[in-house]
Amino acid sequence: MYDFRIEAADKASLYAELIAAAGALTDGEPDAVANMANVAALLWESLPELNWAGFYRNVGGMLVLGPFQGRPACIRIPFGRGVCGAAAATLEPQCVADVHAFPGHIACDAASRSELVVPIVAEGRLLGVLDLDSPAPGRFDQEDVEGCVKLIQRLETALASMAEEGTRG
Ligand code: SME
Repeated sequence: MYDFRIEAADKASLYAELIAAAGALTDGEPDAVANMANVAALLWESLPELNWAGFYRNVGGMLVLGPFQGRPACIRIPFGRGVCGAAAATLEPQCVADVHAFPGHIACDAASRSELVVPIVAEGRLLGVLDLDSPAPGRFDQEDVEGCVKLIQRLETALASMAEEGTRG
């Protein structure tokens, strides 16, 4: 049904195309699970050298696995633990060139060597995180960080209900 072929010459155009495609896939759809699923699939198809791409949601102050592509992963991650937990605790993107050197890194897939995690924050509230893993050391750079931050900003409305369950009570 959807056929997005993203073959950009450089990272800036890659992320521009990716953001446009993610917007087109999610605009008008209020269901955050459906949107997370399609965005995870789009990232998986479009970004080279990934072995995992997906979301963790903030459910009652704990990161809980959301839609993703890749191997089965850890289901619950406390804030402050591993790379995802660090992004949740600091509300800052975490770009880790060598996950083996990161204190507390959670090895869901032994093949992972580098990782980029971007917190998803709306109106000062943490909704969850976007997590990308790569089997290549140093796979992610500042352009990836900025591209993913912009992607998440573009998807703010599409992902608005992703933490609903956790913030109700
Ligand atoms: N490695 C991550 C855990 C999540 S998985 O890679 C999918 C971390 O340390 O937060």
